[in-house]
Amino acid sequence: MTGTPDEPVRVFQDLEALSRAAAELFTTCAKRCVAAQGRFTVALSGGATPRRLYTLFGSTPYRENVEWKHTHVFWADERCVPGDHPESNFKLAVDAFLSSVTMPKENIHRIKGEEGPRRAAQDYEQDIRSFFGPALFPVFDLIILGAGEDGHTASLFPGSASLHERTRLVLPVYLKPPKLNRVTLTLPVLNKAAQVLFLASGRAKAEVVSAVLEGDDGQHYPAGFVRPIHGGVTWFIDKEAGERLRRLSRT
Ligand code: 6PG
Repeated sequence: MTGTPDEPVRVFQDLEALSRAAAELFTTCAKRCVAAQGRFTVALSGGATPRRLYTLFGSTPYRENVEWKHTHVFWADERCVPGDHPESNFKLAVDAFLSSVTMPKENIHRIKGEEGPRRAAQDYEQDIRSFFGPALFPVFDLIILGAGEDGHTASLFPGSASLHERTRLVLPVYLKPPKLNRVTLTLPVLNKAAQVLFLASGRAKAEVVSAVLEGDDGQHYPAGFVRPIHGGVTWFIDKEAGERLRRLSRT
Protein backbone atom coordinates (compact mmCIF):
# COMPACT_ATOMS: atom_id res chain seq x y z
CA MET A 1 0.00 0.00 0.00
CA THR A 2 1.44 3.38 -0.95
CA GLY A 3 1.80 5.86 1.89
CA THR A 4 1.72 3.36 4.73
CA PRO A 5 0.92 4.87 8.14
CA ASP A 6 4.60 4.76 9.11
CA GLU A 7 5.66 6.70 5.99
CA PRO A 8 5.26 10.34 7.05
CA VAL A 9 5.76 11.98 3.68
CA ARG A 10 5.95 11.13 -0.02
CA VAL A 11 7.03 13.71 -2.57
CA PHE A 12 5.62 13.47 -6.09
CA GLN A 13 6.62 15.13 -9.33
CA ASP A 14 3.32 17.00 -9.60
CA LEU A 15 -0.34 17.09 -8.53
CA GLU A 16 -1.33 14.49 -11.11
CA ALA A 17 1.14 11.91 -9.75
CA LEU A 18 0.17 12.85 -6.18
CA SER A 19 -3.53 12.40 -6.98
CA ARG A 20 -3.02 9.02 -8.63
CA ALA A 21 -1.00 7.76 -5.66
CA ALA A 22 -3.71 9.03 -3.32
CA ALA A 23 -6.34 7.18 -5.37
CA GLU A 24 -4.26 4.01 -5.02
CA LEU A 25 -3.99 4.50 -1.24
CA PHE A 26 -7.74 5.12 -1.03
CA THR A 27 -8.52 1.98 -3.05
CA THR A 28 -6.13 -0.18 -1.02
CA CYS A 29 -7.54 1.15 2.23
CA ALA A 30 -11.12 0.62 1.06
CA LYS A 31 -10.43 -2.97 -0.06
CA ARG A 32 -8.72 -3.81 3.24
CA CYS A 33 -11.48 -2.28 5.38
CA VAL A 34 -14.37 -3.85 3.46
CA ALA A 35 -12.65 -7.24 3.63
CA ALA A 36 -11.97 -6.88 7.36
CA GLN A 37 -15.11 -5.14 8.63
CA GLY A 38 -17.57 -5.07 5.76
CA ARG A 39 -17.39 -1.30 5.36
CA PHE A 40 -15.05 1.61 4.67
CA THR A 41 -15.59 4.99 6.30
CA VAL A 42 -13.89 8.07 4.85
CA ALA A 43 -14.14 11.79 5.57
CA LEU A 44 -13.33 14.16 2.71
CA SER A 45 -12.08 17.73 2.67
CA GLY A 46 -12.87 20.51 0.26
CA GLY A 47 -10.61 22.97 -1.51
CA ALA A 48 -8.76 22.77 -4.82
CA THR A 49 -6.08 20.18 -4.04
CA PRO A 50 -8.30 17.07 -3.80
CA ARG A 51 -10.36 17.97 -6.89
CA ARG A 52 -8.28 15.82 -9.26
CA LEU A 53 -8.30 12.93 -6.76
CA TYR A 54 -12.07 13.09 -6.58
CA THR A 55 -12.41 13.02 -10.37
CA LEU A 56 -10.22 9.91 -10.39
CA PHE A 57 -12.70 8.25 -8.02
CA GLY A 58 -15.33 8.78 -10.69
CA SER A 59 -13.14 7.38 -13.47
CA THR A 60 -11.87 3.95 -14.54
CA PRO A 61 -10.31 2.00 -12.80
CA TYR A 62 -11.18 3.55 -9.43
CA ARG A 63 -14.90 3.80 -10.12
CA GLU A 64 -14.89 0.03 -10.64
CA ASN A 65 -12.25 -0.90 -8.06
CA VAL A 66 -13.84 0.65 -4.99
CA GLU A 67 -16.81 -1.11 -3.42
CA TRP A 68 -18.86 2.08 -3.18
CA LYS A 69 -21.90 0.20 -1.84
CA HIS A 70 -19.87 -0.59 1.29
CA THR A 71 -18.27 2.83 1.47
CA HIS A 72 -19.59 5.59 3.72
CA VAL A 73 -18.61 9.13 2.78
CA PHE A 74 -18.47 11.86 5.42
CA TRP A 75 -16.88 15.30 5.35
CA ALA A 76 -14.12 16.76 7.51
CA ASP A 77 -15.78 20.13 7.13
CA GLU A 78 -18.36 22.04 5.13
CA ARG A 79 -19.37 25.54 4.36
CA CYS A 80 -22.78 26.75 5.57
CA VAL A 81 -24.39 26.76 2.16
CA PRO A 82 -26.91 24.48 0.40
CA GLY A 83 -25.57 21.27 -1.10
CA ASP A 84 -25.84 22.63 -4.64
CA HIS A 85 -23.94 25.87 -3.90
CA PRO A 86 -20.67 26.40 -5.81
CA GLU A 87 -18.79 26.67 -2.46
CA SER A 88 -20.19 23.42 -1.08
CA ASN A 89 -17.67 20.63 -0.37
CA PHE A 90 -20.54 18.21 -0.91
CA LYS A 91 -21.14 19.65 -4.39
CA LEU A 92 -17.42 19.28 -5.13
CA ALA A 93 -17.66 15.54 -4.43
CA VAL A 94 -20.99 15.09 -6.23
CA ASP A 95 -19.71 16.77 -9.38
CA ALA A 96 -16.40 14.86 -9.27
CA PHE A 97 -17.59 11.31 -8.49
CA LEU A 98 -20.61 10.84 -6.27
CA SER A 99 -22.93 11.36 -9.23
CA SER A 100 -21.18 8.62 -11.20
CA VAL A 101 -20.64 5.83 -8.67
CA THR A 102 -23.34 3.47 -7.42
CA MET A 103 -23.82 4.19 -3.76
CA PRO A 104 -26.87 3.92 -1.50
CA LYS A 105 -27.92 7.46 -0.58
CA GLU A 106 -27.79 6.53 3.12
CA ASN A 107 -24.04 6.03 2.69
CA ILE A 108 -23.59 9.73 1.98
CA HIS A 109 -23.44 11.65 5.25
CA ARG A 110 -23.81 15.23 4.07
CA ILE A 111 -23.33 18.14 6.46
CA LYS A 112 -26.51 20.20 5.99
CA GLY A 113 -24.76 23.56 5.85
CA GLU A 114 -27.93 25.34 4.84
CA GLU A 115 -29.25 24.80 8.40
CA GLY A 116 -26.65 27.26 9.69
CA PRO A 117 -23.50 26.41 11.67
CA ARG A 118 -25.04 25.56 15.04
CA ARG A 119 -27.88 23.31 13.85
CA ALA A 120 -25.79 21.73 11.08
CA ALA A 121 -23.05 20.86 13.59
CA GLN A 122 -25.59 19.33 16.00
CA ASP A 123 -27.27 17.28 13.29
CA TYR A 124 -23.95 16.09 11.84
CA GLU A 125 -22.68 15.08 15.29
CA GLN A 126 -25.91 13.14 15.79
CA ASP A 127 -25.50 11.42 12.42
CA ILE A 128 -21.93 10.41 13.25
CA ARG A 129 -22.87 9.11 16.71
CA SER A 130 -25.83 7.17 15.29
CA PHE A 131 -23.63 5.60 12.65
CA PHE A 132 -20.55 4.76 14.71
CA GLY A 133 -22.37 3.81 17.90
CA PRO A 134 -21.69 4.60 21.54
CA ALA A 135 -17.88 4.89 21.53
CA LEU A 136 -16.69 8.23 22.85
CA PHE A 137 -15.11 9.06 19.50
CA PRO A 138 -15.65 7.51 16.05
CA VAL A 139 -12.72 5.87 14.30
CA PHE A 140 -12.77 6.84 10.64
CA ASP A 141 -10.83 4.41 8.46
CA LEU A 142 -9.45 7.31 6.42
CA ILE A 143 -9.63 11.09 6.66
CA ILE A 144 -8.37 13.13 3.71
CA LEU A 145 -7.19 16.58 4.76
CA GLY A 146 -5.68 19.61 3.11
CA ALA A 147 -3.71 22.44 4.66
CA GLY A 148 -4.24 26.12 4.07
CA GLU A 149 -1.30 28.51 3.70
CA ASP A 150 -2.05 29.60 7.28
CA GLY A 151 -1.83 25.98 8.36
CA HIS A 152 -5.55 25.46 8.91
CA THR A 153 -6.97 22.05 8.22
CA ALA A 154 -10.60 21.07 7.87
CA SER A 155 -12.08 24.27 9.32
CA LEU A 156 -9.76 24.41 12.30
CA PHE A 157 -8.04 27.77 12.03
CA PRO A 158 -4.94 29.08 13.83
CA GLY A 159 -5.75 30.51 17.26
CA SER A 160 -9.35 29.31 17.25
CA ALA A 161 -10.98 27.97 20.41
CA SER A 162 -12.08 24.97 18.31
CA LEU A 163 -8.51 23.66 18.63
CA HIS A 164 -9.05 23.08 22.36
CA GLU A 165 -12.29 21.12 22.05
CA ARG A 166 -11.92 17.79 23.83
CA THR A 167 -15.41 16.24 23.89
CA ARG A 168 -17.55 17.29 20.96
CA LEU A 169 -17.17 15.65 17.55
CA VAL A 170 -18.35 18.56 15.45
CA LEU A 171 -18.24 22.32 15.94
CA PRO A 172 -19.77 25.36 14.26
CA VAL A 173 -17.23 27.84 12.90
CA TYR A 174 -18.19 31.51 12.67
CA LEU A 175 -16.09 33.52 10.23
CA LYS A 176 -16.18 37.22 9.35
CA PRO A 177 -18.11 37.99 6.15
CA PRO A 178 -17.57 37.66 3.25
CA LYS A 179 -16.11 34.33 4.44
CA LEU A 180 -18.76 31.66 4.90
CA ASN A 181 -19.55 30.14 8.28
CA ARG A 182 -18.57 26.51 8.46
CA VAL A 183 -18.90 23.21 10.31
CA THR A 184 -15.86 21.13 11.20
CA LEU A 185 -14.80 17.85 12.73
CA THR A 186 -12.80 18.44 15.90
CA LEU A 187 -9.18 17.46 16.59
CA PRO A 188 -10.12 14.52 18.85
CA VAL A 189 -12.00 13.00 15.89
CA LEU A 190 -9.16 13.64 13.45
CA ASN A 191 -6.71 12.12 15.94
CA LYS A 192 -8.77 8.97 16.39
CA ALA A 193 -8.61 8.15 12.65
CA ALA A 194 -6.99 4.90 11.57
CA GLN A 195 -5.26 6.80 8.77
CA VAL A 196 -5.00 10.49 7.90
CA LEU A 197 -3.83 11.49 4.44
CA PHE A 198 -2.79 15.11 3.95
CA LEU A 199 -2.57 16.43 0.39
CA ALA A 200 -0.52 19.55 -0.29
CA SER A 201 0.48 20.95 -3.66
CA GLY A 202 2.25 24.09 -4.82
CA ARG A 203 4.92 26.49 -3.59
CA ALA A 204 2.42 28.35 -1.40
CA LYS A 205 2.26 25.30 0.90
CA ALA A 206 6.05 24.85 1.25
CA GLU A 207 6.22 26.82 4.50
CA VAL A 208 3.44 24.99 6.30
CA VAL A 209 4.67 21.61 5.02
CA SER A 210 8.22 22.18 6.25
CA ALA A 211 7.04 23.66 9.56
CA VAL A 212 4.72 20.75 10.29
CA LEU A 213 7.01 17.98 9.06
CA GLU A 214 10.41 19.28 10.11
CA GLY A 215 10.05 22.50 12.03
CA ASP A 216 9.80 22.96 15.76
CA ASP A 217 7.01 25.46 15.22
CA GLY A 218 4.69 22.93 13.60
CA GLN A 219 2.40 23.29 16.59
CA HIS A 220 1.59 26.85 15.52
CA TYR A 221 -0.32 25.36 12.61
CA PRO A 222 -3.54 23.38 13.20
CA ALA A 223 -2.38 20.86 10.58
CA GLY A 224 0.51 20.15 12.95
CA PHE A 225 -1.95 19.20 15.69
CA VAL A 226 -3.14 16.21 13.65
CA ARG A 227 -1.24 13.30 15.12
CA PRO A 228 -3.47 10.21 15.23
CA ILE A 229 -3.18 8.43 18.58
CA HIS A 230 -3.23 4.90 17.17
CA GLY A 231 -3.42 5.54 13.43
CA GLY A 232 -0.99 6.94 10.94
CA VAL A 233 -0.60 10.28 9.22
CA THR A 234 0.94 10.56 5.79
CA TRP A 235 1.57 13.65 3.72
CA PHE A 236 1.39 13.38 -0.05
CA ILE A 237 3.04 16.50 -1.46
CA ASP A 238 4.39 17.61 -4.80
CA LYS A 239 7.92 18.90 -5.36
CA GLU A 240 6.94 22.53 -5.01
CA ALA A 241 5.21 22.00 -1.68
CA GLY A 242 8.26 20.05 -0.54
CA GLU A 243 10.90 22.50 -1.68
CA ARG A 244 11.74 23.63 1.85
CA LEU A 245 12.05 20.11 3.25
CA ARG A 246 15.60 19.21 4.20
CA ARG A 247 15.09 15.45 4.13
CA LEU A 248 13.30 14.55 0.90
CA SER A 249 12.05 11.07 0.10
CA ARG A 250 11.23 11.58 -3.56
CA THR A 251 8.79 9.23 -5.17
C1 6PG B 1 -12.17 23.55 2.91
C2 6PG B 1 -11.11 22.54 3.23
C3 6PG B 1 -9.87 23.21 3.71
C4 6PG B 1 -8.81 22.91 2.67
C5 6PG B 1 -7.64 23.87 2.80
C6 6PG B 1 -6.69 23.70 1.61
O1 6PG B 1 -13.35 23.29 3.14
O2 6PG B 1 -11.76 24.56 2.33
O3 6PG B 1 -11.54 21.53 3.97
O4 6PG B 1 -9.43 22.82 4.98
O5 6PG B 1 -8.37 21.57 2.82
O6 6PG B 1 -8.15 25.19 2.80
O7 6PG B 1 -7.39 24.08 0.46
P1 6PG B 1 -6.72 24.00 -1.00
O8 6PG B 1 -6.65 22.54 -1.34
O9 6PG B 1 -7.68 24.75 -1.91
O10 6PG B 1 -5.37 24.64 -0.90
